[in-house]
Amino acid sequence: MAASLPQDISDTELVHLARTALKRAHCPYSKFPVGAALLTESGEIILGCNVENASYGGTICAERSAVVSAVSQGHTKFRAISVVTELNEPASPCGLCRQFLVEFGDFKVIIGTAFNTKILITSTRDLLPFAFTPESLDTFEHEKASAASVDTEGDSKEQAATTISS
Ligand code: THU
Repeated sequence: MAASLPQDISDTELVHLARTALKRAHCPYSKFPVGAALLTESGEIILGCNVENASYGGTICAERSAVVSAVSQGHTKFRAISVVTELNEPASPCGLCRQFLVEFGDFKVIIGTAFNTKILITSTRDLLPFAFTPESLDTFEHEKASAASVDTEGDSKEQAATTISS
């Protein structure tokens, strides 16, 4: 679901929207509903909930469900995500979701609960220190390119030496 909302939505409002998403969770196996509300750079809200499967490994978490939905709708820049569970304390996103979120940069993560006002505010970067990111792949490309140019320089020096000696 994408709805246009004002860009200055508060953390609390985003938590409320994640609670709406939580009610849609399909979690007949774990009975552990999770809701997420993702705020795009352009101010849209995209909801996500966990969707489980009889083949358990097919389950998708609420955070990834929101991101997949957002990207499918053309959004790849985000300002914040809120995540709620029915636990009494804010529950941190799983490792796979942290990796999935940091793929899209550093943005705010607001972790709340379904039934009380406790909130924990963090960020995608803080949730995954030393993350492997798209920049890691860019660095690899640069390193390969500069190694190739050093090789080429070596080749031309060898050629020059051959020319002089012959
Ligand atoms: N779950 C999420 O939706 N997000 C998380 O970050 C952790 C776990 C879901 C997956 C599964 O449907 C249920 O919670 C129990 O693990």
